[in-house]
Amino acid sequence: MDWDISTKKVLITGATSGIGKATLIDLAKSKAFVIFTARDKNKALTVLKEAKELSKNENIEFFEVDLSSFKSILDFLKRFKEKHNKLDILINNAGTWNMRLALTEDGIEKTFMVNYLAPFYITHSLLPLLSEGSPSRIINVSSAMHKGGKINLDDLESRNHYNGIQSYSNSKLMILMFTIELAKRLKDKGIYVFAVHPGLVKTQIFSNFPKPIRDLFLIGAKTPEEGAKTSIYLAKTKDIEYLTGNYFADSKPTDYLKIADNEDLRKKLWDKTTDYIKKYINDFEPLV
Ligand SMILES: NC(=O)c1ccc[n+]([C@@H]2O[C@H](COP(=O)([O-])OP(=O)(O)OC[C@H]3O[C@@H](n4cnc5c(N)ncnc54)[C@H](OP(=O)(O)O)[C@@H]3O)[C@@H](O)[C@H]2O)c1
Repeated sequence: MDWDISTKKVLITGATSGIGKATLIDLAKSKAFVIFTARDKNKALTVLKEAKELSKNENIEFFEVDLSSFKSILDFLKRFKEKHNKLDILINNAGTWNMRLALTEDGIEKTFMVNYLAPFYITHSLLPLLSEGSPSRIINVSSAMHKGGKINLDDLESRNHYNGIQSYSNSKLMILMFTIELAKRLKDKGIYVFAVHPGLVKTQIFSNFPKPIRDLFLIGAKTPEEGAKTSIYLAKTKDIEYLTGNYFADSKPTDYLKIADNEDLRKKLWDKTTDYIKKYINDFEPLV
């Protein structure tokens, strides 16, 4: 099957720093049409300029969106769909890690919202565009931290006895379970779904950590360019469709926490997430 990235339109969330920025620049150098999201317009303009200069590719644009706000997400999706009617690759990369309980303007725990609820909703909303681009791909950036995650259907936001490490791990397990379930549901629809562990990468995501802990934790960590390799592999490589639903590290399918294979739990999580979103977006109905 032909899979020439230079003919593809890619949307990547959170490309103002770290792994997302490195992914953006690599794909732009390969002449893909790359659209990225950013919550900070000034950062986005700086990255846009740098990416265009480094890649000599003018087909790069950005949309402002704060993934911690449903209002902002709805506004972004409206603007995006006014301009684009087809998408080949969606990379749900943006992420956050809050060591203390932080609530969004909608009153939702922030890590859960940015790392899981936002990509769940955005992916559903963009399925018709990915269908237009079929065979198309969805790449969800999870983490090996999912292995410490738990699914508590009565407390998806991990609010009870909040612990920042647990909340982050839970969000990464949820996005992995979403990946596996979505891959199953889309299997015959020509949209393929993958999860990624980028490795331990020295990025801004650890900026909330106390400095001595951060320095110790990041000894031997990868550079953002190294950390972006698996996302880039999944975006560029031909004939990987049969691996849909897999979790990749170092560009290879890799073992994940066995609980993610529990279909009943995945479906319950899916339904609970749908109900959650309906509280904020009344007419939300998953297309699959
Ligand atoms: N670094 C690691 O070791 C590691 C390991 C496993 C998985 N990951 C995952 O890799 C992905 C990329 O993270 P990174 O390590 O590259 O961290 P990063 O440098 O902090 O990049 C995170 C990106 O997400 C954006 N973002 C955060 N909150 C947002 C919000 N509310 N609305 C919109 N955008 C938001 C950030 O925007 P701003 O620039 O405005 O902050 C930034 O562009 C995340 O999903 C992370 O969980 C990282």
